[in-house]
Amino acid sequence: MHLRGFLAGLCVLAFSAAASAQGTEEWPKLDVRGLARAAGLSTVEAVIAEDPVYGGEKRYRGLPLEDMLAAIPKVEDLARRGALVTFHAADGYLATMDLARALRSGGVLATNDLDALPGRTWVPIEQGGRTVSPAPLYLVWPAAESDDPRYVWPYQIQTIEVKPFAAQYGAAVPDFEADAGNEAGHEAVRRGFEHMRVRCLTCHSVNLVGGDLGPELNVPMNVTEYWKPEMLPRYVRDAPSFHARSKMPSFRATLSEAEIDDILAYLRFMTDRKVCGTVAPCE
Ligand code: HEC
Repeated sequence: MHLRGFLAGLCVLAFSAAASAQGTEEWPKLDVRGLARAAGLSTVEAVIAEDPVYGGEKRYRGLPLEDMLAAIPKVEDLARRGALVTFHAADGYLATMDLARALRSGGVLATNDLDALPGRTWVPIEQGGRTVSPAPLYLVWPAAESDDPRYVWPYQIQTIEVKPFAAQYGAAVPDFEADAGNEAGHEAVRRGFEHMRVRCLTCHSVNLVGGDLGPELNVPMNVTEYWKPEMLPRYVRDAPSFHARSKMPSFRATLSEAEIDDILAYLRFMTDRKVCGTVAPCE
């Protein structure tokens, strides 16, 4: 069976149910938890030269991502309008990338690791001192460099959502309107938000926007309100040197001190722009 046909019904269902429940503008969301077990879908093989999760060369079997995205109504229009696609993992991790890029880069939603032991579907992943299974789906890119930040490699994928930038990041976007006269500081805040978006909102939320593998960083209390100022940049740079078995990775190799200063400028800026806590209850 072709994936597109299988998904068409599934997607439209999720779409209309969400819209009528909220009465607001809603965006397409695919529940893909059952996909790995769905019988008879045509699959492809993916060879990855340098797998960012396992390291080294890997081979998988899986479903073409573009076939799945093509099941979303008006997906090409959404891509032209600059929409983003977000992959939600079982552990609260969110991975977001440009929808247009995701539609035409040969991504594969792996359902099987071809290097697994006989009779097994997956090789377990080492994560913060534990081992986890990437099931049901792990997104891989045979044609992309594993360290290219424009591509995301999430595993344990449960749902896939398509949204324009403003709907995706809403209350976490720094709003400079009520802050005229301080333009010099805005550049650092703007850069900090961009680093935060790519590196941190996968696991953390700000104003309840983002992943929930790690704690919310702004409401009701902003981290910069209770951390010692000299310790916070050291922590962000290298959390595993503070917490054994930390689920937060080290950023020593990927973020400079200046980039971390920008992230902290953004977090401090958001202290006066809480969606709840000082202005309204969070629960
Ligand atoms: C893979 C998930 C993950 C990523 C990515 C991540 N964090 Fe974390 N972070 C966590 C977890 C989980 C904790 C809780 C402590 C722990 O497990 O070590 C944490 C803790 C923190 C804390 C301490 C919170 C507190 O109240 O004490 C701060 C600050 C923080 N992270 C900031 C960041 C920033 C800034 C980035 C991006 C540069 C980032 N994190 C990226 C998972 C993550």
